Amino acid sequence: MTNGKISSKEIFALEDKHGCRNYAPIPVALCRGEGIFVWDVEGKKYYDFLSAYSAVNQGHCHPRIVKVLQEQAAKLTLVSRAYYSDTLCVYEKYMTDLFGYDRLLPMNTGVEGGESACKIARKWGYDVKKIPPNQAKILFAEGNFWGRTMSAISASSDPSCYEGFGPYMPCFELIPYNNIPALEKALQDPTVAAYMVEPIQGEAGTLIPDEGYLRKVRELCTKYNVLWIADEVQTGLGRTGRLLAVDYEGVRPDILILAKALSGGTMPISAILANNNVMDVIKPGTHGSTYGGNPLACAVALESMKVLIEEKLPENAAKMGEILREELHKIPKNMVTAVRGKGLMFAIDIHESIPAYDVVLRLRDAGLLAKTTHGQTVRLAPPLVITEEQVRAGARIIQKTIESFKQ
Ligand SMILES: Cc1ncc(COP(=O)(O)O)c(C=O)c1O
Repeated sequence: MTNGKISSKEIFALEDKHGCRNYAPIPVALCRGEGIFVWDVEGKKYYDFLSAYSAVNQGHCHPRIVKVLQEQAAKLTLVSRAYYSDTLCVYEKYMTDLFGYDRLLPMNTGVEGGESACKIARKWGYDVKKIPPNQAKILFAEGNFWGRTMSAISASSDPSCYEGFGPYMPCFELIPYNNIPALEKALQDPTVAAYMVEPIQGEAGTLIPDEGYLRKVRELCTKYNVLWIADEVQTGLGRTGRLLAVDYEGVRPDILILAKALSGGTMPISAILANNNVMDVIKPGTHGSTYGGNPLACAVALESMKVLIEEKLPENAAKMGEILREELHKIPKNMVTAVRGKGLMFAIDIHESIPAYDVVLRLRDAGLLAKTTHGQTVRLAPPLVITEEQVRAGARIIQKTIESFKQ
């Protein structure tokens, strides 16, 4: 350490020695964030084109969210659900009015949102659909990603997620993504309680299904009396250019899972929304969490939602996303073979002759942070507060950096 400050190199060494090596971070050590920018410990400034996997939609340290967080932190942070607080009810009312559901279940992380949705769906399967005991199935799409718990990895089709961690959760079944005939066939099994799916698969590389897919999912789940669970942990809250990605097709899932940007990147907050006919299968004592619905989280989530809406961030994502798309298409096709995106949720496929990880390292050197997924794909998802000037400047860095691999 020099002058009482810690250097990037020292940070890398300390983590490598003392931390569980469950991540292989890009070598950059950050200590400050504001809007779409972050700074490393040596003072270098970067465009953040990852947004903590879309958790920082409102931009880093949004002043309104930070103010509410500080005020609430000084007042009351946790009472557990043993008591009522003056924040949870206000937040529940706001969210259920906004999204048009009867009830909200507060949890903490995105993966807990998925876990809770699966629990609710199983219970609904027994209590309402009358599936014989211990036979309720949940369908998932191949390529899904919803976290790292035993249930989430049991639903995964990616060996790097599940291999070596068995035995797995029973009655979880995979079907191909974006494949309506396969879904309809699977739904005919009377023991199926739910189909859980991301409207756009994020971790799989921003895979966008055919237009009409979600409408058809809605139609078929209704037809076969199966709950549709939409995992909008990543696609939700403005990221794709609408408040929810399902809004593009004017459909509503039976269970909606939100997380990440629900706190504007300040703390883990998730929410599960459903109507009475589904949510009422949960009775006192059958589900819960010490921190779920804590006053600090409720105040922060409420303000984070208001920021998204009052600052028209979904609309900005749609506009800025079109500019980013145009700019990304200017990169020669022999370097970037595909550009996929909706709103400000993008991925580009880098030609096999250029190692995508090297692209990410050169982007870092040029002052822009992005991340690879599945080898040759680079995800690009800046905070939704980005301006036109900033989106063009970021795109220029990406173009120049990728073209620097020409020689
Ligand atoms: C679609 C989706 N669902 C769920 C999760 C899990 O969220 P968390 O990491 O907050 O548990 C993620 C995380 O990346 C995600 O992308």
